Amino acid sequence: MKKKESKIVVITGASSGIGKGLKQLFERDGHTVVGLSRGDCGKEWRKCDVTDFEQVKSTIDAVGMQYGKIDILINNAGVGISGALELTTDDDYKKIMSTDVDGVFNVCRAAVKYIPAGGRIVNISSVCALFALPYRSLYCAAKAAVNMMSFGLRMELKNSGITVVTVCPGEIKTGFTSARIKNYATNDRYGDSIKLSAKHIDDKEEKRMSCLRASKKIYKIAARKKGAMYIVGAKYRMLYFLSKIFPVGAMLSGTGRFMIKRK
Ligand SMILES: NC(=O)c1ccc[n+]([C@@H]2O[C@H](COP(=O)([O-])OP(=O)(O)OC[C@H]3O[C@@H](n4cnc5c(N)ncnc54)[C@H](OP(=O)(O)O)[C@@H]3O)[C@@H](O)[C@H]2O)c1
Repeated sequence: MKKKESKIVVITGASSGIGKGLKQLFERDGHTVVGLSRGDCGKEWRKCDVTDFEQVKSTIDAVGMQYGKIDILINNAGVGISGALELTTDDDYKKIMSTDVDGVFNVCRAAVKYIPAGGRIVNISSVCALFALPYRSLYCAAKAAVNMMSFGLRMELKNSGITVVTVCPGEIKTGFTSARIKNYATNDRYGDSIKLSAKHIDDKEEKRMSCLRASKKIYKIAARKKGAMYIVGAKYRMLYFLSKIFPVGAMLSGTGRFMIKRK
């Protein structure tokens, strides 16, 4: 039987959650996995903040020199934010955009030259890129930017034989909720609805897909699938289908009614 070829895989945000799960699964199958994160992610950890292009460039160059190529790049590092858009601070805005959007941009532009024909870039986005949520506007905007960057790059790299895949997971049980920037600032316009709406989502934490299950699904996609976009979670595939049928206004009214909670 033909032995599976060992790949060089780079994963950002491999110190916890989905990134950590993916790292373990690729390692289990005999691949060499380099993890980029600020916190320790074990074997082959490169300490790197994806928001800082100089750091990203020198880290990726070092990986490229050491291994000669990067077969699979997974842009997974990300952070969430909740709160009213009107009451978001500059610092919080910058943290979200620099991690979720600049991070993908930084790593892609540093790494593409090391990815050979047949290689892959997998961008971990979110279903929030497909469905706007109240009090999650900036996270949705950041992930929508990731989708568009990813789709554009897919077309740009097609002739180089590099496949770019976008993954949009639904809710998964990881450290993401506790790491999320939670801004409960309010005024007369919103009253207690910001806090109650956040609680409505956070109360469902236990019903989220387990990290192991999600990592296994994303692993299959990251390792082999060639489609432009994959949604992880049957409920969200159904919602995506509905979003293609119903007018945007109807989808937003329905989502707003369901997601905004008041006493
Ligand atoms: N969990 C969900 O419900 C869900 C749903 C849809 C999409 N996603 C997306 O899935 C991805 C992974 O999230 P997760 O759920 O696994 O969350 P997580 O457990 O909080 O992991 C986030 C990872 O991102 C890394 N990270 C954050 N800022 C970074 C920075 N500036 N530089 C380098 N690494 C950074 C963190 O590492 P360090 O802190 O050590 O740097 C950590 O390893 C994210 O892109 C998220 O948006 C998650």
